[in-house]
Amino acid sequence: MSSDHPVKDQILARYRERTSKSRALDVQAKTSLPGGDTRWAAYHLPYPIYMTRGAGCILTDVDGHGYLDFQNNYTSLVHGHAHPDITASIQAQAVNSVVYGAPAEGQFHLADMITKRLPGVDQLRYTNSGTEATMMAMRAARAFTGKPVILKMDGGYHGSHDMAEVNITPDLSSNQLPIPRVEADGVAEAVLGAVAVARFNDLESVETVLKARSGEVSAIITEPLMNSAGMVVANDDFLPGLRALADRYGVLLIFDEVVTFRLHAGGYQGKTGVTPDLTAIGKLIGGGLAIGAFGGRAEIMALYDPARPNGFHHSGTFNGNPLAMAAGMASVNALTPESINHINRLGDDFRIGIDEAFAEAGLHGQATGEGSLAYVHWTAEKVTSAADVVRWKQKAAELPRLLHLELLNQGIFSANRGMFNISTPMTAAEIDQALVAFRAALFTLKPYVADHAPHLMI
Ligand SMILES: Cc1ncc(COP(=O)(O)O)c(C=O)c1O
Repeated sequence: MSSDHPVKDQILARYRERTSKSRALDVQAKTSLPGGDTRWAAYHLPYPIYMTRGAGCILTDVDGHGYLDFQNNYTSLVHGHAHPDITASIQAQAVNSVVYGAPAEGQFHLADMITKRLPGVDQLRYTNSGTEATMMAMRAARAFTGKPVILKMDGGYHGSHDMAEVNITPDLSSNQLPIPRVEADGVAEAVLGAVAVARFNDLESVETVLKARSGEVSAIITEPLMNSAGMVVANDDFLPGLRALADRYGVLLIFDEVVTFRLHAGGYQGKTGVTPDLTAIGKLIGGGLAIGAFGGRAEIMALYDPARPNGFHHSGTFNGNPLAMAAGMASVNALTPESINHINRLGDDFRIGIDEAFAEAGLHGQATGEGSLAYVHWTAEKVTSAADVVRWKQKAAELPRLLHLELLNQGIFSANRGMFNISTPMTAAEIDQALVAFRAALFTLKPYVADHAPHLMI
C-alpha cells in the first residue's frame, strides 16, 4: 500500500504498531503458503491479524488485543465463538470419534430440524461447504430437467466451483443483458455454454434470457438477498416475480440461502412465502464447522435414493460427519425465533447508526442489508444491484480498505469488503461500542475523503 496521504500513513503506522506479532507470523507463513494465504476473503494488505481465541463476540489476537467480532467467519458463527451448547456437543461427539464411514443418527436429526423450518426443503443431502451445496443444487436441477443451462444473477456469489465462477463481478456495460464471462483463472470458457446471466431486481432481463434460451434453461439460481455483492435487498416484486417466471417457463427456482437462512426461522423463503424448488444452505447449520447441504422438493430429492436404479450419484468422505452434525444441531436449536428477532433488531439499530454516523461526519454513505446483516457503502444513492456497488467502489479510492483497517485499530473486526453481521451473544452495548468506533473512524478519514473523494463530502 503506497503512501499518498498522511491519514493513510497514520492508520497504517498504528496498525503495524499494534500487530507486530501478526506481521511476524505473516512473514513466516509466506514460506509454505503462497503470499502467506490460503483463503482469499480472509487476507488483506498489509497483512491480516492472526487470532488465537474467540469467546462470545470477542476475538483475541496474538498481540493480546480484543476485537468485537462483526465478521463471525463470514456469518457462519451466528452464535459467536465457543457457544457453550455447541462446544459441549462437539466435545461429547469428539470422544466417540469424529467420523465413522457409516451413517449416524445426527444426520437425520439435523435434517429433520432443517426440513421443518424451510418450506421448500422436504429432504436434503449434506456437503462440506456452501460451494458444494450450490454445485450440487445446480447439478440436481440439470439432472432433473434434462436441460443444460443455469441462469444466475450478475454479481451473484454462490461459491467457487466452475459454474459459479461466472460474473461474480458484475458487468458494468449498459447492454440490455450482462455479458457472461468467467471470473477466475483456470475456469474453462466452455462453462459459458451452460451459464446464462440476468440482472437482480430486473425481471425483464430474466424473462429475456428465458425467452432467448427457451427449452435450454434448467433453473434460475439466486440469493434472495445478494450478500457478498453488497447486501442488495430484493424489491418487493422480484422474488414472487422470479417464482412466476420459473413456473411460466417450466424451469426450477433455486434459492442460495447459505447466508440468508439466519434472517428468519423459515429462512428467507419462510419470511417471504416464495418457495423455491431447490435450496442450498451452509454456514450456520454446521455450528462453526465445515458444512453445506442442498435440498428441495421430495420428487427431485427422491432421485438420490440409493435403492433406485439409475439414482443420482453424490458422495463425499465427510458428508454428514458426526462432528458437524453435533455442532449443527446445537446451532440450529439455539437459533430460535426469539434469538433471530434479537439479532435482527440489533442489526436494524446498527444500520440506522451507520447512516447517522455518516450524516454527523458530513459524508455521503449508508448501510444496506436486512436484519442481522449489514454492508457499508460510500454512496448515498440507492443501491439496487451489484453493478451499483462496484460503481461507487470505483469512485471511493481506498476508503473501504482504510475504514476496515481503522476499525481494526479501534478493536472492531469486520469483513474487509465492508460487511458486518450480528451474533446472538451481542447486546445493545456492543452495537453502541461499534458505532462510537465507526463515527470516530469517519472523522479520522474525513481529510482523506476531502483530498481523494471530494464528491463524498456533504
Ligand atoms: C451465498 C453464498 N453461497 C455460497 C457460498 C459458499 O460457501 P462456502 O464458503 O462454504 O463454500 C457463500 C460463501 O460465502 C455464500 O455467501
